[in-house]
Amino acid sequence: MKTLNLDAIRAAYDRGENITELLRDKDASYNSIEVIEVAYDLQAGTYVNGLLKDKSVFEKRAGEIGEILASHVSSLDTFLDCGAGELTTLSGVSHYLPVNIKMFAFDLSISRLNAGLRFASRAMRYDLFNSLVSFSASMDNVPLHDNSIDVVFTNHAIEPNYGRELPILKELLRVSRKKMLLFEPSFEDNSEEGQSRMKKLGYVRNLPKWIEMAGGELVDKFPLNCVANKLNPTYCYVVEKKDVSSSFELSEVNFRCPLSNAELKDRGSYLWSKEGAHAYPKINNISLLRSKDAILMFHE
Ligand SMILES: C[S@@+](CC[C@H](N)C(=O)[O-])C[C@H]1O[C@@H](n2cnc3c(N)ncnc32)[C@H](O)[C@@H]1O
Repeated sequence: MKTLNLDAIRAAYDRGENITELLRDKDASYNSIEVIEVAYDLQAGTYVNGLLKDKSVFEKRAGEIGEILASHVSSLDTFLDCGAGELTTLSGVSHYLPVNIKMFAFDLSISRLNAGLRFASRAMRYDLFNSLVSFSASMDNVPLHDNSIDVVFTNHAIEPNYGRELPILKELLRVSRKKMLLFEPSFEDNSEEGQSRMKKLGYVRNLPKWIEMAGGELVDKFPLNCVANKLNPTYCYVVEKKDVSSSFELSEVNFRCPLSNAELKDRGSYLWSKEGAHAYPKINNISLLRSKDAILMFHE
């Protein structure tokens, strides 16, 4: 990432410049995780504001995604939204999901989760909001145990991670127990104009190829009718895990240390693992679980 001070980045954002392009290293064809974090954290609140200006498009899209999800999520499932942003999509689809499920959501950006939790407190189905667990993490290092989540969901979140498709898909498959429903743009089905836009923005390509290489089975792929931007058409990728976990236990979903993989104990204002010798703080009850958030702590 190019080194620019935060005031210069903020000023460029206020002038309407594209922040990922501004911060990307010269000649790089992909966005680093740090570039994605800055670009999205700066724009926190814009999705909620946009939606409040025109609720009808949001409701239509949430309805379409919600109905697809409803046919894949069952009562008692665990459900994880990866790259949940301002929780707008998750809030919208929550009304279509079965009762008695447990939802988790994470994003790189804390500012977006802050804005999202304020929005979700009004917009998400009440039972699901009350038990929602939100945390900050990166999709290429998810602080959860193998096979802990029944259904993994993304909506335009793998999108800016061109060049990291394989490690991200491997990681999401690792934590998923049954299936993944990925709502992401399809480079291969896009128009020429759309493809050059996706290249310029560092958006993902060849998802079917990477899904198979990551060990998943692409059982269905179809376009969504309700598309916000014709140059960025959403496709639903239904991915099943080849080796589905045979465990039928309702085990607890505990966090694990992103550095040592040791299980973390929740101590209220932080999470800690004695074995891993690191603590992870919380902001507004959002656990910060990226490796960069780790604080060395051998003893409590
Ligand atoms: C286009 S927004 C979509 C947000 C949300 N899924 C929705 O439907 O409104 C993409 C989000 O993915 C997050 N994101 C992108 N790459 C990520 C990564 N590697 N790990 C975690 N979050 C990521 C960004 O921070 C951003 O909030």
